[in-house]
Formats: sequence, C-alpha cells, structure tokens
Amino acid sequence: MTQDRDRTGGSPSIDRRRFLRAGLAAGGAAIAGGSVAGASESNPDNLPPNVADWSRYLGDGVDARPYGAPSEFESETVRRSVAWLTASTESSVNFTPLHALDGIITPNGLCFERHHGGIAEIDPADHRLMINGLVDRPLIFTMDDIRRFPRENRIYFLECAANSGMEWRGAQLNGCQFTHGMVHCVMYTGVPLRHILNEAGLKPNGKWLLAEGADASAMTRSIPLEKALDDCLVAFAMNGEALRPEQGYPLRLVVPGWEGNMWIKWLRRIEVGDQPWHQREETSKYTDLLPGGKARRFTWEMDVKSVITNPSPQAPINHGKGFTVLTGLAWSGRGTIERVDVTLDGGRNWHPARIDGPSLNKAVHRFYYEFEWDGSPLLLQSRAVDSQGHIQPTKDQLRAVRGTNSIYHNNGIQTWHVQSGGEVENVEVS
Ligand code: MTE
Ligand code: CO
Repeated sequence: MTQDRDRTGGSPSIDRRRFLRAGLAAGGAAIAGGSVAGASESNPDNLPPNVADWSRYLGDGVDARPYGAPSEFESETVRRSVAWLTASTESSVNFTPLHALDGIITPNGLCFERHHGGIAEIDPADHRLMINGLVDRPLIFTMDDIRRFPRENRIYFLECAANSGMEWRGAQLNGCQFTHGMVHCVMYTGVPLRHILNEAGLKPNGKWLLAEGADASAMTRSIPLEKALDDCLVAFAMNGEALRPEQGYPLRLVVPGWEGNMWIKWLRRIEVGDQPWHQREETSKYTDLLPGGKARRFTWEMDVKSVITNPSPQAPINHGKGFTVLTGLAWSGRGTIERVDVTLDGGRNWHPARIDGPSLNKAVHRFYYEFEWDGSPLLLQSRAVDSQGHIQPTKDQLRAVRGTNSIYHNNGIQTWHVQSGGEVENVEVS
C-alpha cells in the first residue's frame, strides 16, 4: 500500500498547502481547524443543574421570521468555493457541504451552484418557454400555461460531470464538500416534457431536442428525443417551493440520472431537430479525452458512485475510541443502489453498510456503518453497486481504461485516512 500524498494536479501550483490557504480565504476556518458543529466549547452557566439562559426569557414571536433560516450555530454549514478554481465567480462553482448533512434531501439553500454566466434574475411574468423546430405548431408558453399541464413530483440527484474531476490524478482536495460536493438531491415538481412536446405535435423526423437557457451564457445542450419522452421534467419547484434563482428560477429542465450540464436552468427554448447540434458544452467540454487522443462522444448517464461523508476531513472523529457512526451517500444514473460495502482498512476487508431511508430511482441513497473504533489509523472507503449490477471502480481501474487526460465522469472509490487522533485526510491507496 502506498499513500500518495504528492499533489500531481495539472498545475504545479496546486498542492495541499495552497489549498488550505484557499479554504481559509473562502471563509473555511472550520476546515483548517478541523472543527465541526457540536464540537465547540460549552458554557458551564448553561449546563445542568443551572437553568440555561434561553429558558429565562421569552423567545421571538411568530412574526419575527417570516421566512425561516437555520440556527446561528449552524453558520458553518454553507456552500463553499475553492479559490483557485474560481477564476470569476460568474462562471464558476461552489460545493454542497455534504459532510454537514444527513438523509437524502439537500436543503434548497445548500445545493451546489454551477453557472457559466452568473445567476439570471428573471421576473416570471416576463418568462416564456418557446417550442420550435420540427413541430406541427410552434408554441410559446407563459408560466401560467405550464402550470395547467398535469404535474408530477419526483426526487432525483443532479451531479455535475466535473464532480471529483480534480481528483483524477491523485488525492487533492481536503474535504468531501470539495471532492464530491457537486451533487444534490431534491424533490422536483414539474410537468413531464412529453406533455409539452405533444401539445406542439412532433414531426416524424424529430429525433433530438436542443434545450436553451435564458442566462447570459445561453447554455445549450442536445438531448435525444427518447430521453425527453421518457422521464424529463420541466420543473418549477424544488422541495415544495419555487426553484431558487441559483437553480434556474422560474423553470429548469430535469434530465434524471444524466450529467448535470444537460439540466438547463432558466429554460427558455426547446427546438426539435433531426440530429444533435454539437454545441460547445457537448464537444470541447464535458467530454472525456481518452489516452489515444480520441474522445468519448456524449457521456450522459452518471455512473454508480458513493462517498463517505462522516468521518471525512471536515468532519473528523472528535469523540475518541469507541462506538462510531460512519455515514455516506451513494447514487447511480442507471437506477437504485443495490448495496454499499465499506472497508476500514483500505480494501482488505469489506462490510455491508446499512441503507436507510427511501431507495428511489436516480436519487441519492443514505448508508450507515456503525463500528467500535480502537483508535488505530483507518483507511475508509465505500463501494456502491447499482440495480443494474454496475460496481463502483477503484481510481486505478478507471485510469487503466480512461487514462489521465480526463477530468469528467470520475466515479472512482474515495479513500479517507483517519489518524489515531481522529483527524482525517484525503489519500489514495494502490
Ligand atoms: N443551465 C444554464 N442555463 N446555465 C448554466 O451555466 N450549468 C449547468 C446546468 N445547467 C448551467 C445550466 C451545469 S454544468 C450544471 S452541473 C448544472 O446546471 C448545475 O445545476 P445547479 O446549479 O442547480 O446545481
Ligand atoms: Co456541471
């Protein structure tokens, strides 16, 4: 076993020390200090047998918080960006704090954001969805029109194809928020895209769609008609409330199980055509460059993947030896998760983890593994298997097939090294 602690990212300036500085600059004091919510010092005045401060006075009334917000003590549970990945904030990404969350639903305010032209601020009264191209009747819908189609509620994960991209060549970012935080999972409310297409009437030679966003980047992607008619949604709500502006308010495309880039936000137009358009985002970007110099054309389905979210670098073991709860997330763009196995010793012995909560098609699954920690160093990994029998590969297995040119579609097994003091760092084993 070797632990690769050298940083071998594309740029010589990318190393751990530089990253830690970047994390601090981004407001990540909790990362550098390794502290987590709950690990802060107690005030003895508030502890039994004393009467705690908050029991002595009346609290806020019902009008104080017309739109609620998390407790001030959860202020570290926020999206974070990485300074050296953020050339300009308008064309960048921030990451879901996976280490601070539980269950399978991502709260709206913590869903990672990826945009190429900033957040479009759209007045829904002025928003339109146009359907044109190979249709019998080109149509323009208002938001009210869209709400008059039958709706459906479905829970799906969205993962950016670049999630874990910085980890292709070696362990690099210290925290699952940064290595795996380009994923979220929410309940969408929307209209099946086939209802809208049927309203316009598809011509027989219509085989592809071009979905286009109304943001300054006018993001465009080609989508095969088969997928559009199968399970795509035109969504206006997430987790019961209107989409957030960051997530495409007032309307976004939902493309279940497929790479996040296709989920066009601020959706303004769908053109029906007879072949793919080969836009920038489906050729030079989001495309895997293979060792021989050829690229994979259209990698849509997101492969089976998992990650341990606790313990992890931002969520070390603070309680010392003894009963320890390990938890994480698993997902597959091809169905549900059949099983997750966990190892504490870098892959020598595997133990079945317990999946808890709903097991839904193309949604994240929550797993737990409880164990007695004897205080010795651990090499934690999780390995997911999906309902089609696909097994999450090691990073070496991935690199053997796809080389090291690519940054996209990395579903390799992640390793966390737990030290005897409980601190956790990102490593690779081979
Ligand atoms: N749609 C538009 N209009 N503009 C964008 O920049 N980014 C895409 C996709 N849809 C993008 C877009 C990418 S790369 C991803 S991963 C997802 O939106 C991210 O969705 P989220 O910001 O809701 O997490
Ligand atoms: Co993306």
